[in-house]
Amino acid sequence: MTATSPAVAVITGGASGLGKAIALQLAEQSMQLVIADINAEIGRETQAELEQLGATVAFVEADVSQAEQVKHYVDVALERFGRIDYFVNNAGISGPGTPFADNSVEQIDAVLDTNLRGALYGLKFVLDAMLKQGSGSIVNMSSSAGLVGIEGVGVYSATKHGLTGITKTLAVEYAARGIRINAVAPGATETPMVAAYREMHPDIVARNEAAIPQQRFGTPGEVAKTVCFLLLGSVPHINGVTLPIDGGYTAQ
Ligand SMILES: NC(=O)c1ccc[n+]([C@@H]2O[C@H](COP(=O)([O-])OP(=O)(O)OC[C@H]3O[C@@H](n4cnc5c(N)ncnc54)[C@H](O)[C@@H]3O)[C@@H](O)[C@H]2O)c1
Repeated sequence: MTATSPAVAVITGGASGLGKAIALQLAEQSMQLVIADINAEIGRETQAELEQLGATVAFVEADVSQAEQVKHYVDVALERFGRIDYFVNNAGISGPGTPFADNSVEQIDAVLDTNLRGALYGLKFVLDAMLKQGSGSIVNMSSSAGLVGIEGVGVYSATKHGLTGITKTLAVEYAARGIRINAVAPGATETPMVAAYREMHPDIVARNEAAIPQQRFGTPGEVAKTVCFLLLGSVPHINGVTLPIDGGYTAQ
């Protein structure tokens, strides 16, 4: 990055929900954005919305569970903008919301493939680029379910604990090479994912909400603000943490 070239941020799952909220806040910082998402229709709508705000945006249709598609969105970022300063490893799915043993093998694989395999592929290819640059900052999207057990989300919880683990390890491995890696652990936050989950399991969602000390779900803006705080490094000594944004839920 030079004084004349804005920083470059790559956001997976940036078409909707938390990823979109993060993209909107990064656009306010005049960044060049790459949004990688499996949903091309809403991805292009989000791209247009960001461009109307004056942002420079590349949208890449990509399924993060496919290594070659992950390499492709990284290649597009490098070809179009020359570097990757910031990576928000956000794409994820919730799974069926049933007790663990009720999951089919296919349901287990689907959540593992997107949330963990996809996130690890992203880290691998983005780190290849950041290590060549000698700089970069990454935020992984974990969850309250990456810190404690929550009913109905066993496979999801395994993937989010995995992200908490890889965040610590990579922070240790790459700190001396100019790269910081943190994670956020939102509690339930009002996005399309939670709206769909509420439709399927209103009882579980109501119990979760009642169990939050602040008695409300989070907002996408609150999560985006926290991601930007860690990503942009206003306190650069923060490294390897998974920061809860959950109204006190995991403090209990
Ligand atoms: N909303 C919450 O309560 C909450 C809480 C904690 C963590 N999270 C995590 O935040 C992230 C975003 O969730 P959200 O609530 O914004 O959900 P969302 O469904 O609104 O957005 C997820 C985005 O990821 C994309 N996506 C899904 N599978 C993909 C794949 N294989 N490849 C590429 N893109 C894919 C979707 O198209 C969508 O745009 C997820 O990792 C989720 O686990 C959400």
